[in-house]
Amino acid sequence: MKLLVCGGAGFIGSNFVRQRIAEHGDAVTVLDKLTYAGREENLADVRDAPGFAFVHAGIEDADAVADAIAGADAVVNFAAETHVDRSIAAPDAFITTHALGTFMLLEAARERGARYLQVSTDEVYGSIERGSFTEESPLLPSSPYSASKAGADLLVASYHHTYGLESLICRGSNNYGPYQYPEKLIPLMILNALHGDPLPVYGDGGQVRNWIHVEDFARGIGHVLAHGAPGETYNVGGPDEAVNIDVVRRIIALTGAPEDLIEYVADRPGHDRRYSLGSEKVRALGWEPRVRFDEGLERTVEWYRDNRDWWAPIRSGDYRAYYERQYGRSLGR
Ligand code: NAD
Ligand code: DAU
Repeated sequence: MKLLVCGGAGFIGSNFVRQRIAEHGDAVTVLDKLTYAGREENLADVRDAPGFAFVHAGIEDADAVADAIAGADAVVNFAAETHVDRSIAAPDAFITTHALGTFMLLEAARERGARYLQVSTDEVYGSIERGSFTEESPLLPSSPYSASKAGADLLVASYHHTYGLESLICRGSNNYGPYQYPEKLIPLMILNALHGDPLPVYGDGGQVRNWIHVEDFARGIGHVLAHGAPGETYNVGGPDEAVNIDVVRRIIALTGAPEDLIEYVADRPGHDRRYSLGSEKVRALGWEPRVRFDEGLERTVEWYRDNRDWWAPIRSGDYRAYYERQYGRSLGR
C-alpha cells in the first residue's frame, strides 16, 4: 500500500510509520511542517526504507499536498497542534492546522479518490464522571485544542456525506510510549524524575485518563484503515485507566526518585476531570490492545533512560523557555 502520512514526524505518526514499514512493507511519504513537536530524528531508522520519502510542508499548503498525494492509495492525517496547555495560551496555530489544514487535505483526497483517515481524540467528547463514551455520544469539547479537533472531525464526516469520500475517523485515548515530546505528563515526569527536578501536578492530581500504548493505537489506526466502513468513526481506547497522582507515584517508584519532588501547582483552566472511551466497535473489527499500563510504563521509563541522545537536545533548547513560561520556574539542569 502507498500511504501519505501527514504529521508523521511527531510522536504517534512516527510510531505508525515505523510499524507500517516493518510489519506491512508499505511505501510511505511523510508530509510534516516540523513544528517544535515534529522531528526528523523520529524517523531516523526508516529514512532508507524502500519507497520512503519526506516532504517538509504544512497540510495547509495546497500545492505541496497535491504533489505529495500523487500515487497514494490513502492519506492518514496525524498533523495537529496537540498540547492542551499551549492551546489555552496561544490557540491560533490550532485553528489554522485543524480547520484550514484538514480542509486542504480533504480537498486533495477527494480530487485523487484516495481513502482518508483522520486521527482524532477522546477529548472531543469532553469530560465524563462515570461510564464511557461511545461513538454516538455528543461532542462537548472543553479547550481550543479539543474544539478545533471536533470541528475537523465534523468537516471530515461532511466530505463522506456530501461527496462520498471514503473517510474514517479514529478517536484515541491518552497515548504514551517512545518518542513522546516531554511536555506531556508521562515523559515530562520521567525526565524530571531522572534529573531530580520537581514533578508539577495540576490541581489535586485526581484527574483520570485512559492510557493506551502508542503501538496499540498505531495498530488500531492501521486496522481501521484496512477494515473500517467509510463514513464511520471508531473509538480506540486503552485497557487501563489511572488517576494522575498514581501515575506520578508509579514513575517515582520506577525511577527511584524521592517522593518529595511532587509539587502541586495551579490547575489547568477548564481542566477535564475524566476521559473514558468505549471501544467495542473497533474490537468488533478484530482489534484489541496488547500492552497493559504497568508493563508499558516500565518499558517507557526504560526507553527514556536509554535514549538520552533523543531527548538531550530538546531539554537544552527552546523547551526550557516553554517550561519556564508554563510552570513559572526553570528546569534544574
Ligand atoms: P505531536 O505533537 O507529537 O506531533 C504532531 C505532528 O504534526 C508533528 O510532527 C508536527 O510537526 C506536525 N504538524 C503540526 N502542524 C502541522 C501542519 N500544519 N502541517 C503538517 N504537519 C504539522 O502529536 P501526537 O501526540 O503524535 O498526535 C498525533 C495526532 O493524534 C494528533 O492529531 C492528535 O490530536 C491525535 N491524538 C493524540 C493523542 C495523544 O495522547 N498524544 C491521543 C489521541 C489522539
Ligand atoms: O486524551 C487524548 C489527549 O491526551 C490528546 O488528544 C492530546 O493531544 C494529549 O496531549 C493528551 O491530552 P491531556 O491533556 O490529557 O494530556 P497531558 O499529558 O497534557 O496531561 C495529562 C494529565 O496530566 C492532565 O490531567 C493534565 C495533567 N498534567 C499534565 C502536565 C503536563 C499535570 O498534572 N501536570 C503536568 O505538568
